[in-house]
Amino acid sequence: MNKDVIIALDFQNKVETFRFLDQFNQKLYVKVGMELFYKEGKEIIENIKERGHSIFLDLKLHDIPTTVYKTMKNIGELNVDMVNIHTLGGKEMMNSAILGLEEGSINKRPLCIGVTLLTSLSKKTLNDELLVNKDINETILHYAKNAKESHLDGVVCSSLESSIIHDHLGLNFITVTPGIRLENDLYHDQVRVATPTHARILGSDYIVVGRTITNDSNPVKTYEFVRKQFLEGSDKFGY
Ligand code: C5P
Repeated sequence: MNKDVIIALDFQNKVETFRFLDQFNQKLYVKVGMELFYKEGKEIIENIKERGHSIFLDLKLHDIPTTVYKTMKNIGELNVDMVNIHTLGGKEMMNSAILGLEEGSINKRPLCIGVTLLTSLSKKTLNDELLVNKDINETILHYAKNAKESHLDGVVCSSLESSIIHDHLGLNFITVTPGIRLENDLYHDQVRVATPTHARILGSDYIVVGRTITNDSNPVKTYEFVRKQFLEGSDKFGY
């Protein structure tokens, strides 16, 4: 099973993005989200790929099965490494996503990961607004099970849910976890956070790290530190 640190490129445009990437001399795994993709389009994907980086294209599709199928066929042509959809779209939509990706991909089909419940949703919102009268963890696990039955490769979840998901759905079902912070970091808008060491112990396969690295005065050094903590369990900062 591959494990890696994915840097969230939550920048407003390509200038800021490449100013950040230019500081690194190694191949990275990066996440391009809606704000950057809707501003710069597929050109930014091609430019990042040309530099040899791996890409998680985080567009969180959620629409009727035919639309998702056709969109995934187009996304397949972008030759990215990971994409995602909302599990709330249902099994038929998830199966259509996989079919579209398989037909559209030039090389290997990218990993397709399901978003279960957004971490910004509370139990109150789930119960009162969405009328789901179940426990959050039970709901997340159920949606993850639907994702596995629809041939998705894994889910986005907090590292605290990683071990439950692996226990029930197996170690080959990938968990991708945002909400990562180093000790003494600001939490910003994240609530359920874990350190990279914690995420490793809880069995996350990929961690997504944004502001801890992108806002740092020495992002390269901090990235190396996060990698060492996550992949090797080392707490030694610097070289
Ligand atoms: O800066 P920070 O490390 O909090 O960034 C986390 C990244 O992961 C952001 O790009 C955010 O959109 C994404 N994300 C998240 N929680 C989810 C799904 C995605 O924080 N449930």
